[in-house]
Amino acid sequence: MRLLVDDACAQRIRAIMETYPIDGVTTNPTILARNGEAPYRALRELKTLLGPDRQLHVQVVSLDADGMVREAQRIRAELGKDTYIKIPVTAEGLKAIRRLTEAQYPVTATAIYTKMQAYLGAKAGALYAATYVNRIDNLGADGVATVLEIDRIFRTNGLNCRMLAASFKNSQQLISLCAQGIDSATVSPDVIEGLLNDQNGPAAAVAFKRDFETLCGAGKTMENCG
Ligand code: E4P
Repeated sequence: MRLLVDDACAQRIRAIMETYPIDGVTTNPTILARNGEAPYRALRELKTLLGPDRQLHVQVVSLDADGMVREAQRIRAELGKDTYIKIPVTAEGLKAIRRLTEAQYPVTATAIYTKMQAYLGAKAGALYAATYVNRIDNLGADGVATVLEIDRIFRTNGLNCRMLAASFKNSQQLISLCAQGIDSATVSPDVIEGLLNDQNGPAAAVAFKRDFETLCGAGKTMENCG
């Protein structure tokens, strides 16, 4: 499963990248607003940080297809043609997805709450479907189950669209989907850091070090022991 960070703060993402194997970054207008910097300044910094091998997904703001397409053109001009353009799956969004995929833009269908939205976004040409796990849970439905059903719809219909599960609030939601082999998930820094929120691993490492020092002496490691 690819693991992306749902955030726009380059400083925070740089720190996460030092520890965690990250495959890219997703942003949305709310995340950019929370970050507080001028959008393209923040996004250019992210693009440089991520380099050519990690993904960057950037969302449009307009509600009409013409506006979405114009935004996609500016995003591509500023950040490069490998930038995924996130388009909410509305009626206008579907028009934009079709126009952009015909023009060879990589598109991520987003704001997906239902199987039908995902199916239509994929059929219109989106390469990823950002499905909102926790927001679906909050509607009284089952976000993890919805993601898995959408994934199955893509495969049984031969649709060339991958799952990008999004909107997580805890590690359990993420691990459930990882175990099922979905393509990608994007998670907030808090949730990523929660993945190592277990003290057994660190406690085991300390115990190994202590035992080794009883053999070789304080401060000795495999670098400097006899
Ligand atoms: C992903 O595409 C969305 O930007 C995001 O995951 C939504 O997450 P939220 O429900 O935490 O706002």
